[in-house]
Amino acid sequence: MKIFTVLGLSAFGFSTLARAQDHPFGSILRPLATPAQAEYELTLLVAAICGAILLVVGGLLAYVVFRFRERGPITHDEPPQLYGSNQVEIAWTVIPILIVFVLTTATARVTSAVQDREPVKGAVKINVVGHQWWWEYTYPDLKITTANEMHVPVGAATFLNLDSADVVHSFWVPQLSGKTDVIPNRPNHMWIDPKETGVYYGNCAEYCGAQHAHMLIRVVVESKEDFDEWVAAQRKAAPKTDSPGEKTFLSLSCVDCHTVRGLPASGDQGPNLTHVMTRSTIAAGQIANTKENLRAWLTDPQAIKAGNYMPNLDLTSVQLDQLVDFLQTLK
Ligand code: CUA
Repeated sequence: MKIFTVLGLSAFGFSTLARAQDHPFGSILRPLATPAQAEYELTLLVAAICGAILLVVGGLLAYVVFRFRERGPITHDEPPQLYGSNQVEIAWTVIPILIVFVLTTATARVTSAVQDREPVKGAVKINVVGHQWWWEYTYPDLKITTANEMHVPVGAATFLNLDSADVVHSFWVPQLSGKTDVIPNRPNHMWIDPKETGVYYGNCAEYCGAQHAHMLIRVVVESKEDFDEWVAAQRKAAPKTDSPGEKTFLSLSCVDCHTVRGLPASGDQGPNLTHVMTRSTIAAGQIANTKENLRAWLTDPQAIKAGNYMPNLDLTSVQLDQLVDFLQTLK
């Protein structure tokens, strides 16, 4: 009966994987970019070869166990001995070598195709910096800095440089590419060329401290026109209004960590807030970017994301209202 339990559980596992394409993270069985597709096909090849080996070895074993099971009284006749058979020695040397050769060359081919692609002229480039616990995205050619929600054009290759501000993270959006480690002072590179518009989800995939699970990656894939529109909007500086909220923001230690382009606020420890209202979530995907949540976050960031570097500023109710109103203007 045990074997049926195992088979049943495996079937359940596979159906769960297959259904995962409805999950926000998307199914790894439905790759939607060239690197993910190449890695998926390699996985299928390796699984097929290993599966065939399992079937042959398991089948032969089952056959031998059944065919030569004990029948009648035990005899002590020695079975025929094969020691020194050239045919057998050659077969079990050459076949594994061939298998290893195929697996090695296929892996090397996919690895170099995924790793060695050079940025083409005009391609979007993004410097990705992993922080405890959020993602910073800087578009060096476009002079844009944003956080947690990356925008890229559909159908074109976007090139990512990965670096970390603190510990080792790992950038992984399953439907776009495999995992790439994000290591301090050791820049890594990857590229993605999403085939369909939409939002692709990923998460940090290397344990990086208390809030490792809350480093959500959102990749917003847009048509060229929508992307250009987003770029144009992101390039604008914040207007200086001298509103009470703006004054409060500039008078507090917010400016030591956050940048709002256009205002004397150029801290680089926390997310750039110049267009914070264009992002759908805050705290790296942990909560929706609503007025109530912004207020809750400012009231006690540690209650929402324990251990993060945003301190509790002990703001008064008036300051909270002013700051929320000010943040709402950063579109
Ligand atoms: Cu960053 Cu795990």
